[in-house]
Amino acid sequence: MCGIVAYIGPREAYPIILKGLKRLEYRGYDSAGIALLNGGLKVYKKKGKVADLEETLQGIDLHANIGIGHTRWATHGEPNDRNAHPHTSASGKLAMIHNGIIENYNQLKQELLNKGYKFTSDTDTEVLLNFIEEIQTQNNCPLEEAVRIALKRIVGAYVIVLIEKDHPDTLIAARKGSPLVIGIGKNEHFLASDASPIIEYTKEVVYVNDYEVAIIKPDELILKNLGNERQTPYITKLDMELAAIEKGGYDHFMLKEIFEQPQTVYDCLRGRLDAQAGTITMSGIQKYAEQIMNAKRIVMVACGTSWHAGLVAEYIFEELCRINVEVEYASEFRYRNPVINKGDVIIAISQSGETADTLVAIENAKSKGAIILGVVNVVGSSIARISDAGAYTHAGPEIGVASTKAFTAQLAVLTMIALKIGHDKGVLDHDRYMHLLNELDAIPAKIEKVLNLNDHIKALAEKYSDATSSLYLGRGYNFPVALEGALKLKEISYIHAEGYPAAEMKHGPIALVDDQLPVIFVATRDSYHEKVMSNMQEIKARKGKVIAVINEGDEQSAALADDTIMIPEADEIVAPMLSVIPLQLLAYYIGLHKGLDVDKPRNLAKSVTVE
Ligand code: F6R
Repeated sequence: MCGIVAYIGPREAYPIILKGLKRLEYRGYDSAGIALLNGGLKVYKKKGKVADLEETLQGIDLHANIGIGHTRWATHGEPNDRNAHPHTSASGKLAMIHNGIIENYNQLKQELLNKGYKFTSDTDTEVLLNFIEEIQTQNNCPLEEAVRIALKRIVGAYVIVLIEKDHPDTLIAARKGSPLVIGIGKNEHFLASDASPIIEYTKEVVYVNDYEVAIIKPDELILKNLGNERQTPYITKLDMELAAIEKGGYDHFMLKEIFEQPQTVYDCLRGRLDAQAGTITMSGIQKYAEQIMNAKRIVMVACGTSWHAGLVAEYIFEELCRINVEVEYASEFRYRNPVINKGDVIIAISQSGETADTLVAIENAKSKGAIILGVVNVVGSSIARISDAGAYTHAGPEIGVASTKAFTAQLAVLTMIALKIGHDKGVLDHDRYMHLLNELDAIPAKIEKVLNLNDHIKALAEKYSDATSSLYLGRGYNFPVALEGALKLKEISYIHAEGYPAAEMKHGPIALVDDQLPVIFVATRDSYHEKVMSNMQEIKARKGKVIAVINEGDEQSAALADDTIMIPEADEIVAPMLSVIPLQLLAYYIGLHKGLDVDKPRNLAKSVTVE
């Protein structure tokens, strides 16, 4: 989704903004632009990559100490130079960048058209900017005040940053719903959609809250609410190193992040799981442990890969805690008027912590008395902050657009929560509890072994990369893994892929099976294994090509498959953290073999901050 960068201070703004925009490329975008103030207001914008913009700016004098930059992921109006940000106001005095959607922009546009305004783009952003300018003109007031008045009428989500030709010492920014981080330097400030453009300059940041307006000068940061009351900026220290957002010798972020998983799962367990002592410490949820134990139901709310983690967790919580669990697409849940009872526990699962649908879904549930737990990766993100309690996944920055290491870390956190609740509630047998603690503890080393299959999986990827369609099948804990494998393949290779519960295949998808169709079975040894083997027979009988992710030494299943990927054995509760990894690698290598941009697949955005 759109990326925002801005700078004010003694340094040259352009190189800082340009580098920042490159750091935000992973979020997904289709045009880029920069506005600088130096005597006059200069705006440069272009469809395509940040590098294309950089190319066209060669040789131009870009000296300035204040500027704003943007990468746009089109919502209103097609991706072209005209619709790219920054936008300038009708008078040419203001420039603005915006992330989010102004839902009532049509009504505002009509009012402005009636007053004689003309628009040069199809965007909601240009409407909001001119609306602000109109208020400033009518009231003859400072820009800060015009912004506050304007935002009271805005329906939707936004981060906006403005510069004003006649005030080259001030940036004005505001947020509702979309993320905004302000880095505090020495007599300088850095603004961005997330911390990645800021980290190399300062680790001290302020996360702007909803309905706050920031008035930013080189040596001063003032926050106000829309009622013009001063708010205290809360400075947080970033716990992140620059190396974490660079490729570190790998060809792609996606490959790096797949290979980081032994470490990220270890980091996630560290300090929480003590297999020897038989303890799990989840300080983030301790305060609500009693309520979770007594909850009549738990609702997992998430999107995409995080939703798949929720599905695995449904099986785990029901098995270990004997609590009724429902898993909801946040986008459906937020609009459906769902029944929420006081004391219901909602677990919001999100890598970015900024997914708009998940955020609004939990805001609604919170207002109806539910307890919100966040299982979130990005520290300080909106979902983390609105949650009553929660546990960070500690997977580090995930830059590849397709989620990989966040998924396994989510599973690790959710499994620990379930183990703790099941044990404390007394419904989980002590021996089984101890066995599962040890199984969980052994996962990082087993992931390492799965990663040793890299070359084998790469060869398989080349063999099957001409496929035009594929089926992913699994049962029980491995059913959501099949869904996740199919999602990874679609995203990265643009090959159509369907994930299904293996038995459900007979109710329709089996019609697709012929000797051209690769069918990927996630068939590790678990309570469903015999049944999955029967499903493999059914595919074989129809000449489908079976690729089976099975356990080492499972010769019986191997005999049914055209190709196998043999991974270490693990208890079925923790097995998805292993069985998903070959599917991540398969998608990566198929995409790579097809020459695609695996880190930034077409049309996708990393952080989906619009609904
Ligand atoms: C898939 C993927 C997306 C995200 C989804 C939710 O690879 O990355 O499906 O999982 O957009 O994002 P978060 O977890 O940030 O809420």
